[in-house]
Amino acid sequence: MELNLRGSVALITGASQGIGAATAEAFAREGAHLVLSARQAEQLMSLAGRLKQAYGVETLVVPADLRSEAAVKHVVMAAYAQFGRIDVLFNNAGANRRGGPLELDDAAWQADQELRPLGYVRFCREVLPSMIAARRGVIVNNLGYAGRTVLEDYVAGSSAVGGLINFTKMLAEQVARHGVRVVGVHPGPIDTPRLAHWTEDELRRIVSTIPLGRLGRPEEVADLVVFLASERAAFITGACFLIDGGASRGIG
Ligand SMILES: NC(=O)c1ccc[n+]([C@@H]2O[C@H](COP(=O)([O-])OP(=O)(O)OC[C@H]3O[C@@H](n4cnc5c(N)ncnc54)[C@H](OP(=O)(O)O)[C@@H]3O)[C@@H](O)[C@H]2O)c1
Repeated sequence: MELNLRGSVALITGASQGIGAATAEAFAREGAHLVLSARQAEQLMSLAGRLKQAYGVETLVVPADLRSEAAVKHVVMAAYAQFGRIDVLFNNAGANRRGGPLELDDAAWQADQELRPLGYVRFCREVLPSMIAARRGVIVNNLGYAGRTVLEDYVAGSSAVGGLINFTKMLAEQVARHGVRVVGVHPGPIDTPRLAHWTEDELRRIVSTIPLGRLGRPEEVADLVVFLASERAAFITGACFLIDGGASRGIG
């Protein structure tokens, strides 16, 4: 399937490892130029170097702690300075702490909110004016399945993502007439460094809730993101797609 992404510019947050790094590679394979951001500069540089060599794409690395508006603005400005535009934004950086509904204090809630939902909202705000002016652009928000399915011990992540599902739909409606699409992906448990948060026993229990009987691979999420960002998905906006091995129950 021809995705027609060659020469487009994709900005990926949380690109240093896991789903973000796999998505960077998937875009590079399609010939898209990359703007990669996260905190771990060395990992970003090494990924960028490898993808440039393997696929001949241009890369820009902007190391940043994305928990502030200033950092988000800095990344977007650097992208415009290098490429003059952003065609695709993959909002992916996330690191919600574990904890049940009564366990997190105000400071914990507030600290988590900076990266998500606020980081996602800030990136949208920064990239949209130029996407609207160009009448072209796609935003893909990574909204883990915890936003739709109750996960024990993960109230901050579930709450942030639940709100962002509504934000995604609302934004999609507002910008559709300007030629910009906004969509979401709902990954279930995916085999990334993030799973180190769970013990072996917890992981076994999580896998037992997945009808396909295994964890997802970051490359599988990446393929979905790249498809949604492509012209092949031109009639899709305001929708969020589960990629969870069947783990989410219910029809909502
Ligand atoms: N793995 C899963 O099972 C799963 C399921 C559903 C949803 N998700 C979501 O998918 C996204 C990616 O997760 P993953 O599994 O790939 O996890 P991961 O391997 O831990 O990657 C998280 C990424 O976010 C970046 N990040 C974290 N805090 C940051 C900060 N303050 N500023 C900038 N970047 C930051 C990390 O980079 P640095 O450390 O270099 O900053 C890293 O690149 C997250 O939003 C996660 O909640 C994951």
